[in-house]
Amino acid sequence: MYRTKTCGELRLANVGEVVTLAGWVQRSRKMGGMTFVDLRDRYGITQLVFNEERDAALCEQANRLGREFVIQVTGKVEERSSKNPKMDTGDVEILVEKLNVLNGALTPPFTIEDNTDGGDDLRMKYRYLDLRRTAVRKNLELRHKMAFEVRRYLSEQGFLEVETPVLVNSTPEGARDFVVPSRMNPGQFYALPQSPQTLKQLLMVSGFDRYFQIVKCFRDEDLRADRQPEFTQIDCEMSFVEQEDILEMFEGMSRHLFKVIKGIDLPKLPRMTWADAMKYYGSDKPDTRFGMLFVELMDVLKGYGFSVFDNAAYIGGICAKGAASYSRKQLDQLTEFVKKPQIGAKGLVYARVEADGTVKSSVDKFYSQEVLQKMKGAFAAEPGDLILILSGDDAMKTRKQLCELRLEMGSQLGLRDKSKYSCLWVIDFPMYEWSDEEQRLMAMHHPFTSPKPEDIPLLDTDPASVRANAYDMVINGVEVGGGSIRIHDAQLQQKIFEILGFTPEQAQKKFGFLMNAFKYGAPPHGGLAYGLDRFVSLFAELDSIRDCIAFPKNNQGRDVMLGAPGIIDDVQLDELQIKVDLKEK
Ligand code: AMO
Repeated sequence: MYRTKTCGELRLANVGEVVTLAGWVQRSRKMGGMTFVDLRDRYGITQLVFNEERDAALCEQANRLGREFVIQVTGKVEERSSKNPKMDTGDVEILVEKLNVLNGALTPPFTIEDNTDGGDDLRMKYRYLDLRRTAVRKNLELRHKMAFEVRRYLSEQGFLEVETPVLVNSTPEGARDFVVPSRMNPGQFYALPQSPQTLKQLLMVSGFDRYFQIVKCFRDEDLRADRQPEFTQIDCEMSFVEQEDILEMFEGMSRHLFKVIKGIDLPKLPRMTWADAMKYYGSDKPDTRFGMLFVELMDVLKGYGFSVFDNAAYIGGICAKGAASYSRKQLDQLTEFVKKPQIGAKGLVYARVEADGTVKSSVDKFYSQEVLQKMKGAFAAEPGDLILILSGDDAMKTRKQLCELRLEMGSQLGLRDKSKYSCLWVIDFPMYEWSDEEQRLMAMHHPFTSPKPEDIPLLDTDPASVRANAYDMVINGVEVGGGSIRIHDAQLQQKIFEILGFTPEQAQKKFGFLMNAFKYGAPPHGGLAYGLDRFVSLFAELDSIRDCIAFPKNNQGRDVMLGAPGIIDDVQLDELQIKVDLKEK
């Protein structure tokens, strides 16, 4: 037996027992005739003691141990004279009688401590060492627990976990596909699934009724803190359901997770229409941990000779409570912030509410105190508040800029506490959004999403205004999940494809398998998918989903540890009958 106990389990009750432990040397220190070694495994750290007086040779052996050596020790559990209340095992230590070095170790390139000195790149290159750190391991333990509870909850609700293939063809989520060449079918490629969307719909046609899968999805898109090229969905679909049934079911699943994992009783989730989310937060994933809702000021501020506002299609602002004390420098920094190319505003107008209630603004020369008071009223602003205003010639773009400013102010004022959760459903998404790049309407969710029945007549007259039976779950400004009621009628599906610009032949070629299946008795159905990585990172209060993924990719989509992606051998290319001829970009 390599060990009789783990490094996390010894307590005062074990004093007097002779035990064998195995693990890694976290650190060792020599104090007079004693050598102390912290031995670490997944379960914790136990202090080992080597006493020179009792066994000089053994102590000498201990003094030669390096960091991260893998050792096995046998000894007696003793009560510590100076206890360490910060460690679970801090009441005891082991007086070692036998030491066996199972494996030596090179000095690790960074310290394996909670606050490591290793930079991001280095930690990713040696991710297997990074994963030895408690903080990182805890995230993966949480991930396991969440996935386990999801399986438990959904199984109890009658869902079956069904695996779907990874080598498929293009799926309809709208990102770029990762493709895989087929040796047996030269010149042809599989696509990796962006989600199992069409397959889960086919499972409904097959009568599976309630499906789920914790599944890898692949999307070749630009990466951000909450995006990875391969990520994991909790993918679900149900038959004979309406939107309400789905929201109920998955609100229940979220409530279960919050309760068992975080000990939080999730209240009934509020619902916000997409139109309101855009109007008051400038985002379809509003961070509702704090207020600072948008106030539109077109009626208040237009027509006073300030051409920036007079010519704007949208003027809107937020009121930051108690921020009137912002210095000139801080306001300049906010102006720089909104002017950053990623945000793209042209400038920022601000107004302070003074202690006596008067308003002092950066555009005082255009506005009388009377108008400024009217503006103050629109925000219900009080002395000490700071009003920040943006304008632009495209309402949607300006709202998005104001959203960034609101989030920045929320962060600066400490209103985005990661340990507080604010969850909601955003509902009534539009069916379509206009793509400047493609110069056509695109499906906002995906092309299988059902329009609201009452909006179906608008498909012919004003498709851009048609709303979908689609919904997202949003937590703290993060879209954790999204889904829709699907179209189960081949004719309506055909029409939606037409509006999206597919000819009947193109639609048949791409999605014929699904439309044909619908001709054989498709039940009404709908579903949704959660991003497991995002859900875990919210629960773990992380800044990036990378920290809850064992082996994540970096911002260039690279696994720096594996060296992937990489060049493949000529032999492999020959087998695939592929010649690489990179085009200059
Ligand atoms: P959607 O595209 O909204 O819907 O994806 C569902 C959820 O998956 C997560 N997600 C991601 N997480 C990490 N990295 C990414 N690159 C990434 N992309 C998406 C998000 C998102 O809410 N088939 C539909 C679901 C359905 O209609 O049932 C779908 O995939 O948390």
